[in-house]
Amino acid sequence: METKVKRIGVLTSGGDAPGMNAAIRSVVRTCQFYGVECIGIRRGYNGLIAGDIVKMDSDSVSHILNRGGTMLYTARSDEFRTPEGLKKAVSICNLLGLEGIVTIGGDGTFRGAMELSKNGISVVGVPATIDNDIGCTDYTIGFDTASNTAVDAIDRLRDTMQSHERCSVVEVMGRNAGHLALYVGLAVGATAVLMPEKGFDFDRDVVECIRNARLSGKTHFMIVVAEGAASAIEIGKQIHSAIGLDPRVTILGHIQRGGTPSARDRVMATRMGFHAVEALVQGKTNRVICARNGAMTDIDIAEGLSMRKSLNTQQAAALNAVTGA
Ligand code: F6P
Repeated sequence: METKVKRIGVLTSGGDAPGMNAAIRSVVRTCQFYGVECIGIRRGYNGLIAGDIVKMDSDSVSHILNRGGTMLYTARSDEFRTPEGLKKAVSICNLLGLEGIVTIGGDGTFRGAMELSKNGISVVGVPATIDNDIGCTDYTIGFDTASNTAVDAIDRLRDTMQSHERCSVVEVMGRNAGHLALYVGLAVGATAVLMPEKGFDFDRDVVECIRNARLSGKTHFMIVVAEGAASAIEIGKQIHSAIGLDPRVTILGHIQRGGTPSARDRVMATRMGFHAVEALVQGKTNRVICARNGAMTDIDIAEGLSMRKSLNTQQAAALNAVTGA
């Protein structure tokens, strides 16, 4: 494909997600493929404002495909949200002669990208967040690895909970979304899963589930709580006062964001990075890459951000059936 685009930038912003490195590698290598120069912008939008750049070539992205985190570092930038910060970022883009930027991150990252685009900088977003909460795409980079990490941790917890015949309350990440909790809850055979989208009634959605499990012969119980639904510590206390169990509470926290990306995350990241560069060389701007029904496409960022993602209804129905919730 012939392209007039000579130089683009790539940055990662917001919370990191396993597979971000694979996306960076894909952007850099696809740029090489099209004869486009690629500049790495370090530390997200803060780095853009500061002109914190690094030249990228094929060698600079060797051996990162299988590494968690992001080699470009990441940040959440308050300064970029101010008119002055945005102005500085735009002048740096013009100074560097950047004809496009691939921004890898979540919804906050895309809101920033939209502002750049309004100021004449071509931008394409690649969705990467363990929360999988971007409405326009079926998948965000990092979700699969984070799910597997949580499942592995909960399987270990189950061994000891089973031996002691205890109740475990595990808090998983997801910010305001319950996609991670639902998926992980299904994978570990949770007794109950609390998700912000569904809300919950403690007696019906926790006590009743534990009671049903006990009546069916279980003597250990696994309650998965999305961080956006409730505090696992509070749920543990409530279980203790309601039915006298002595739960152990585990907050998985940032462990879910680290580690070697799964095959799925590497492949999705590579495909999304490739499509992002293709969109820029085709002269597109203000787009976000979306995985939909197995294919990659791109849509307007504002439109993408306006789309809400509800919980997967088939997964939720299966969970209801198997937990009796
Ligand atoms: O958006 C990704 C995420 O890991 C959320 O699940 C979580 O609520 C948040 O980031 C944590 O952010 P921080 O790294 O700033 O503590």
